Amino acid sequence: MGRLIIVSNRTPGKGPAAGGLAVALRKVLTEHEGFWFGWSGKLVEKPEPEAVFEDIEGLNVGKIDLTQHDHHAYYAGFSNSILWPSFHLRLDLATIEGHWYEGYRRVNAQFARALKPHIQADDVIWVHDYHLIPLATELRNLGARNRMGFYLHIPFPTVDALYAIPHHNELMRDLSRYDLVGMQAERDVTAFRDFADHQAPATLSGSPLRTVDFSNTEVKAFPIGSDPDAFAKLATTPAATKMVKRMQRLLEEQALILGVDRLDYSKGLPQRVEAYEKLLANNANFRRQVHLLQVAPPSRDSIKEYQETSDTLDAMVGRVMGHFAEPDWQPLTYVKRAYGQPSLAGLYRLARVGLVTPLRDGMNLVAHEFVACQDPEDPGVLVLSRFAGAAEIFEDALLVNPFDTDETAEALRLALQMPLDERRTRWETLMQAAKTHSVDNWAKHFLEQLTPADGGNKRPPVRDVLNLDTVA
Ligand code: G6P
Repeated sequence: MGRLIIVSNRTPGKGPAAGGLAVALRKVLTEHEGFWFGWSGKLVEKPEPEAVFEDIEGLNVGKIDLTQHDHHAYYAGFSNSILWPSFHLRLDLATIEGHWYEGYRRVNAQFARALKPHIQADDVIWVHDYHLIPLATELRNLGARNRMGFYLHIPFPTVDALYAIPHHNELMRDLSRYDLVGMQAERDVTAFRDFADHQAPATLSGSPLRTVDFSNTEVKAFPIGSDPDAFAKLATTPAATKMVKRMQRLLEEQALILGVDRLDYSKGLPQRVEAYEKLLANNANFRRQVHLLQVAPPSRDSIKEYQETSDTLDAMVGRVMGHFAEPDWQPLTYVKRAYGQPSLAGLYRLARVGLVTPLRDGMNLVAHEFVACQDPEDPGVLVLSRFAGAAEIFEDALLVNPFDTDETAEALRLALQMPLDERRTRWETLMQAAKTHSVDNWAKHFLEQLTPADGGNKRPPVRDVLNLDTVA
């Protein structure tokens, strides 16, 4: 395989990488020649057309700046107020402003123009996530014929939700310009096939739409994972142990229920607090015996729907505190701040229950990290939403419908009362699954598929591809 070029909206920064993905892709890049390419994080009045390359802890990273105007339309607008809510089936939270699409395409074209001069003929290009769906089209418009793969880190929408997205047909045509499209879960591939096999035959005016030809694009599930061995080690390092000891002093005999999520409406945080409230309301014996710690670093807080979720959660947490707290006992702690991996690893290890209940989620790496950090002799229990991609591989978690807060409250009760034998048996299967689906295996499988031994087909430039499109 030639050099590997990884492209994503966010690029790795200095210091310890925040997410599992950054760690993993960094590892992949150390095993291949190549570089990472993306947005610098800077907004300027007049961005330079050329990317600036920088060595970041041994990693070659090319970056471009964006204008505030374009970034707003591309990131807060089209990516996070249209694609994100629609792909997560929250059309009620989508804001459709048509002009954002132009900004989204402009930024993708800007990425392509800055990247193209650095691409060599046999480089393999791996594009990440919904911000950059049109990148292959833009690169192929500039003449790039390289193998290109796309990985969607979030769920693929149902056909109805997809049709609600302005320009969805163009976006699907953009996907068809990749050689390989990876999804998190089988349910996503099924939703994609549903679109591909039953494309809308007509527009409002009655004229037929050109169907998208996916015959040169392979679409497959590649469930992402964490680095379970690294997390298992991290959970017993001095930094993690320090966190465990401090928490143990505070908790004394109380069992810790832990949630760790970006403050995002897709994570089901209000429903989670409601389920905990029901646990305490229906089982007085748990009061003073349990404590919920919810870590929720703020995210995308320039967007109204995120501010509203944050306000709702503040109010709910206040309600539970007012209802159940005593001068010498608090039912929960809610921290709106990000923590480093060593502290989180300590918290995961200490928790009796990992509460991972998104309403819809691509994979959810917190579930993987929680499993990896458990003490094999005395493991905690994973309560997991059946609507997280992780539910397809963690069958031995207690799977819940996060919309049904009675069910989640009952799963919490079962988790807190689960005998050690059962906890061990379930955890062993979960850890085995976490290892099978490690991030190393994920990257290896994706790249093997993207770069077959014979090098794969070279795509004709886009002009020719367009001629191949059939008319319905
Ligand atoms: C999700 C997305 C990522 C994104 C991350 C953080 O995991 O799939 O692409 O980077 O959220 O969101 P942010 O908007 O801060 O980049």
